[in-house]
Amino acid sequence: MASKVPSPKGFLYGGDYNPEQWLDRPDILAEDIRLMKQAGINTVSLGIFSWSTLEPEDGVYDFGFLEERINTLYENGIYTILATPSGSRPKWLADKYPEVLRVDDRGVRQHYGFRHNHCMTSPALRKKIYAIDRKLSETFGNHPGVISWHINNEMSGPCYCPLCQDAFRDFLKRKYGDIKNVNHAWSTTFWSHTYRSFEEIEAPSSIGETQLHGLNLDWMRFVTERHKDFTAHEIQAVRDGGSNLPVTMNLMYNYTGLDYQEFSDLMDYMSWDNYPTWHKGSEVAVGFDSAFEHDRIRSIQRAPYLMMESCPSSTNWQSVSKLKAPGILEAQQIQAIAHGSEGALYFQIRQSRGASEKFHGAVIDHYGGEDTRVFREVAKTGHALESIREVLGSTVHSPVAVIYDTQNRWALEDAQGPRNAGLYYREAVEKSYLAFKKYGLNVDLIDETQSLDQYQVIAVPMAYMFRQGFEKKLRDFVANGGRLILSYWSGIVDDTDLCFLGGTPHGFIDVCGFRSKEIDGLYEDEIHSASSVDSREERHYNFHNLAELLELEGAEALYTYDQDWYQGQAAVTRHAYEKGVVFGLAADFDQDFYDDFYEKILKEISCKPILGQAGSFVLPTGVEVSERTQEDGSIYIFLINWNREAVEIPVDSDCEILYASGDSSLMGQFQGEAGVKGTDSLGDKYLLHSYECLILKK
Ligand code: GAL
Repeated sequence: MASKVPSPKGFLYGGDYNPEQWLDRPDILAEDIRLMKQAGINTVSLGIFSWSTLEPEDGVYDFGFLEERINTLYENGIYTILATPSGSRPKWLADKYPEVLRVDDRGVRQHYGFRHNHCMTSPALRKKIYAIDRKLSETFGNHPGVISWHINNEMSGPCYCPLCQDAFRDFLKRKYGDIKNVNHAWSTTFWSHTYRSFEEIEAPSSIGETQLHGLNLDWMRFVTERHKDFTAHEIQAVRDGGSNLPVTMNLMYNYTGLDYQEFSDLMDYMSWDNYPTWHKGSEVAVGFDSAFEHDRIRSIQRAPYLMMESCPSSTNWQSVSKLKAPGILEAQQIQAIAHGSEGALYFQIRQSRGASEKFHGAVIDHYGGEDTRVFREVAKTGHALESIREVLGSTVHSPVAVIYDTQNRWALEDAQGPRNAGLYYREAVEKSYLAFKKYGLNVDLIDETQSLDQYQVIAVPMAYMFRQGFEKKLRDFVANGGRLILSYWSGIVDDTDLCFLGGTPHGFIDVCGFRSKEIDGLYEDEIHSASSVDSREERHYNFHNLAELLELEGAEALYTYDQDWYQGQAAVTRHAYEKGVVFGLAADFDQDFYDDFYEKILKEISCKPILGQAGSFVLPTGVEVSERTQEDGSIYIFLINWNREAVEIPVDSDCEILYASGDSSLMGQFQGEAGVKGTDSLGDKYLLHSYECLILKK
């Protein structure tokens, strides 16, 4: 899909800017502009937490500072992403309309404080936010310096107030029509929890109902619906105010409180906030974990997106505030571009002087000068993005995908099943992801509702809940020639967590060629293994946590269990179905198995990695590769070395260097100056130092 991220001046570069904290210091506001220009900053997000400045009293608006800032920034070539101020609310709002304050699951209404914690149902809040959003839109919605709307900020969390409880009941009425359908879907005869009417239903609560998993699931769906409805309300206000600028919302890392996929059709583009815990363990693990999250966000719309926030230095809310080693900052920002982001923004431009984020890293710190390590790295990165401007608008295409489904995760982790000590869903998804990345591919992370047509290989780890129609989609994918890797604990329950009868994976036994008979949970210290039925392969692969026992109904065993009373039974299977093949993974194998097994599958279908030919080239460990394709056919290849040591990268001779971040020296014929954009042809090897990035053009 083409990019809907507005980018009038190349990649968006800049970040959250809170000038309302500095209105008594015009000298500092002026200095900010000077420093921003010096760092190559072309975009700021304004107004995220400005409600009390913009509306100091109920109905009294004062947009003066915002107008002055937007104008001045624009005159200096800096664009504004304008926020609706619903990220936090003024005190008068809570005092005058206490219903805006959330109630917790025990029925306690919260006091005023903190942020991101309103009741999304409250008519008073909706009325007040509509009024200010509309006014902001009327005032700035067609300003040439304003390029986009930033709706709310990192929305999260439920409210259990009487208004929300009523809205939940309405949601259920719309969904089920008759209370009998609810009782059936949630299996309420269990422990005699049968409801006689919708009015009897209460939200799940730690001092009430927790054991009806269907209720828990529908509650999570309702919480998502509340946020979606509130967001749609804000977008409407902006549209009613006369602005047609694109809208976005900023999402969070690994956040499961909302099903983000549900927001896809509301947003013109997705964005997210990226705060990796650099240097906590290996940078390789952290680097690939961030890659995963970038790919997850891009896959929501399978379109260009935006990294809305990241930290230029250290955060002050992680358990340890670790500085980034030189080079990490640039690598982190370029990584965003590599995965399809149309910019790389920070939180925040100028460090706050007081309150809870005063020690959070910023582009301009309390010292205030440009002669800081962080500022220099920010400026270097800004200029790097300017130099790769031609990459803007190119898109990411992935030949493979992993299914990563939030609603499945809700159900799976709530189910009280084979391993309450940990099922490791995200980790299972990550193992497939990493195996594909290691082979050198772009990877999509999609959910069960998205189409599968464009992929050659799809991994489906722990798809415990087969959402309506999913098995049919998988069947069609395989029938049409796809390679599917289906793991243990899949196809067990339907959308309301009712167990499928008649054998699992539900509706898929004839396609995968096996039926799951039982599943064994392993204790933490139990490490089992499996080995190949092909006696030439001597390697044993370890697994942990879960081992499923299969009844083969057409599939052949590729690997069998080595231990326990099920020794000799199938642990990995293969089954051809129509034009495709299904591989079954019955146990939670370690990463090495995934790497080796996926490589075999990819080679078998001659899947071409980004660098090199199918099967002929393996990237050095810890080097990440991704690629973007431009409309004119140009291909941009991004390489990042997350290792603490330099590595040699073999490079195709038809590539030219678009950008190199460091003082790397080429080992082949290329003698160009390090770190400088060059067009000379490459030799066969490039030395990529620690945390350096190399961008090639084909
Ligand atoms: C984000 C948030 C920002 C800021 C930042 C600090 O989660 O959106 O407003 O608080 O964290 O890291």
